[in-house]
Amino acid sequence: MKVSIFVLVSLVSILFSGIHSTSNDVNPVLPSTPYDYSTLNLPAHFTTDAPNSPLPTSINGTDNTPVDNELTDHGATLGRVLFYDKKLSANGTISCASCHQAENGFSDPNTLSIGFNGGTTGRHSMTLINSRWYQRGRFFWDERSVTLEDQVLEPFQDSIEMGLTLLELDSIVTAQEYYEILFINAFGDGDITTDRISKALAQFVRSIVSYTSRYDLGRAQVSAPGPNFPNFTAEENLGKQLFLQTIPNGGGACFGCHTTEAFISANPGPQNNGLDLVTTDPGAGTTFPNNPIFDSRFKTSTLRNIELTAPYMHDGRFQTLEEVVEHYNSGIQAHPTLSPALTDNNGDPVQLNFTTEEKAALVAFLKTLTDSSLSTDIKYSDPFISDFVFMGSVDDDYFLDENWDVGIKPPIGLAGSVTIQADCVIDTLLTEIPVCDELIISNNAVLTIK
Ligand code: HEC
Ligand code: HEC
Repeated sequence: MKVSIFVLVSLVSILFSGIHSTSNDVNPVLPSTPYDYSTLNLPAHFTTDAPNSPLPTSINGTDNTPVDNELTDHGATLGRVLFYDKKLSANGTISCASCHQAENGFSDPNTLSIGFNGGTTGRHSMTLINSRWYQRGRFFWDERSVTLEDQVLEPFQDSIEMGLTLLELDSIVTAQEYYEILFINAFGDGDITTDRISKALAQFVRSIVSYTSRYDLGRAQVSAPGPNFPNFTAEENLGKQLFLQTIPNGGGACFGCHTTEAFISANPGPQNNGLDLVTTDPGAGTTFPNNPIFDSRFKTSTLRNIELTAPYMHDGRFQTLEEVVEHYNSGIQAHPTLSPALTDNNGDPVQLNFTTEEKAALVAFLKTLTDSSLSTDIKYSDPFISDFVFMGSVDDDYFLDENWDVGIKPPIGLAGSVTIQADCVIDTLLTEIPVCDELIISNNAVLTIK
């Protein structure tokens, strides 16, 4: 049994004091050496353009990281704490993570998100994945923020989302003792400024990248996106063809807008994918009022982890990927600013006329872009102790891993120390499996399901 005396003592003292922390009453729990956010072990297909591809496939030249805000492990660590800190809202109830949840691809399953005071946002929340590879470096559906550093300060000041002024933000951050050391580590001294808050948050957001999906495993085995992937089913390979092929060649030309291996628009700017016949939301038209082509156009964000980010589109109008595919198949509207890529030779909206099998194949392909590591990786998780009440009884089907004190990720995605309710039968030497009705899992240990 590898339980250290220290852990044992603290475990027992927690038990007898009966204290269970709830979210945000406590300091963030962070590793002594920060997690690695800065090393990108990108597979070769991210950094090498496929031969003879008419469109760029690599992410070369698309990284929007500014020279004065390179990603560091300490910077992103501070960003992670800010991202999950509910104190940074007018009534201490909302953090960035409330509307950008890791398990939902850093988006929100609600069609519109709920702010600190119960109000709803004007649009559907956006995924944060692969933001760094949006070449134009502009943010929000309507691209109103010119940099990510600007964007991350907007939610704090939004009267529906978090309801603070930047002065209030600075003073709340300053009032929390745990921030000083994080600012020292990230920026060399303990000065807490809006500029540093923005930089650290932008670093954390840029650290959220996906390149270990089933798509990537297959892509690594072939020379270009086009050839069949050995690890795909026939259906998924068909879906991939439809995604990549031009419309005259029987495809959907999806890759023309959802480009590069990051599946995010490389640089064509906001597009109109034919959702409405007449403008219901001017989108980028408000941001670029002098050019009518931007009316009703929106940012094309990444399709990575799209399976997890429902509902879809800027207003969350589609609940499923099947509905999205049916939209492209038969529902494209002849709006005056409809993107030319979705019109035929006469300028009319395209009709893809996919068969039922083809539509299902396209959906199957989109699901190969799912990368569950983002929702289980502890470096993207909530650093504030947030107790997890284990529902169900502990019996022969469950046991406590002997490495209580190790913050490694358990198979079911829980990491944290185990505190045991008073009704448990515990052997203080931990030579026997505790028997109890309820387990509360918090930081620094592991519950493993056999
Ligand atoms: C109350 C919900 C809510 C909160 C809180 C919130 N967001 Fe958002 N976020 C949204 C919505 C909704 C959008 C899209 C709004 C739009 O485009 O008009 C969005 C968009 C974004 C985008 C743009 C992504 C892109 O690709 O353009 C980023 C980045 C982002 N949020 C980061 C954050 C950060 C960082 C915080 C915390 C400081 C935060 N959000 C807090 C709801 C929220
Ligand atoms: C002309 C450019 C263009 C083409 C071609 C295109 N898309 Fe899109 N796509 C967009 C834009 C722009 C959005 C966001 C629109 C909005 O919300 O108003 C989008 C949104 C999506 C979304 C939802 C994203 C989210 O986060 O909610 C999915 C899924 C999607 N597209 C899949 C596809 C598929 C599959 C194809 C091919 C059949 C395709 N797209 C072709 C531009 C395009």
